[in-house]
Amino acid sequence: KDQRIAGITSAIRVIPDFPKPGILFQDITTLLLDVKAFKDAIDLFVERYKGKNITVVAGIEARGFIFGPPIALAIGAKFVPLRKPRKLPGPVISEEYSLEYGTDKIEMHIGAVHEGERVLIIDDLIATGGTLCAAIKLLERVGAEVVECACVIELPELKGKDKLGCKPLFVLVSSD
Ligand code: PRP
Ligand code: MG
Repeated sequence: KDQRIAGITSAIRVIPDFPKPGILFQDITTLLLDVKAFKDAIDLFVERYKGKNITVVAGIEARGFIFGPPIALAIGAKFVPLRKPRKLPGPVISEEYSLEYGTDKIEMHIGAVHEGERVLIIDDLIATGGTLCAAIKLLERVGAEVVECACVIELPELKGKDKLGCKPLFVLVSSD
C-alpha cells in the first residue's frame, strides 16, 4: 500500500505560482498519464468502499468527475454529478459557499438521490473545505446519508477537514 501511495504522490505534478503567485498547484493530469498510479488510486478507493452499501458516488465538477465514475462502477453505485451553476438542465437544488472573493454554488438534479441513500462524495483535492462542505449540505438536504468524503490530495495547512464537522474524510496524499 505504501508503495502505491508513493507512486501516486510522485505522479502528481506540483506547479508553483499557478493560477496566481504564491499558489503551489497540485496537477492531477500527470497522475492520469501514469497508467499504474491512476489505477492504484482508483483501487485504493474501491478497496475502502466496496461492500459498504454505498448506493451513490457524488462527484464534484470538474475534477471529481474524473475519479468518481470508475469508483462508482467498481462498487456498483450510481454516479451523480454535482455541478457548477446553470449547467444541469433539469430542476435542481443548489448550495452556495464562500470563496476567497465572493461566492460560488454547486447544484444537483432533484430526484437523483433519494432519502436514506448512502453517499460517498469524491473530489480530487480538499483545500479550505468549502466545496465539500457545500456538497455535504446539498446531500443532507435531500435526506441522504453522507458516509464519507474522499479526495486524492489534502492540503492540511488549510485545515479544510475542520470545516466538514464530524464527517469523515479519507485522503490518499497529504501535501505539506
Ligand atoms: C478545486 C478542487 C476542489 C476545490 C477545493 O476546484 O478541484 O474542487 O477547488 O477547494 P476548497 O477545499 O477550498 O473548496 P476548482 O473550483 O478550482 O475547479 P475545477 O475542479 O473545476 O478545476
Ligand atoms: Mg474542483
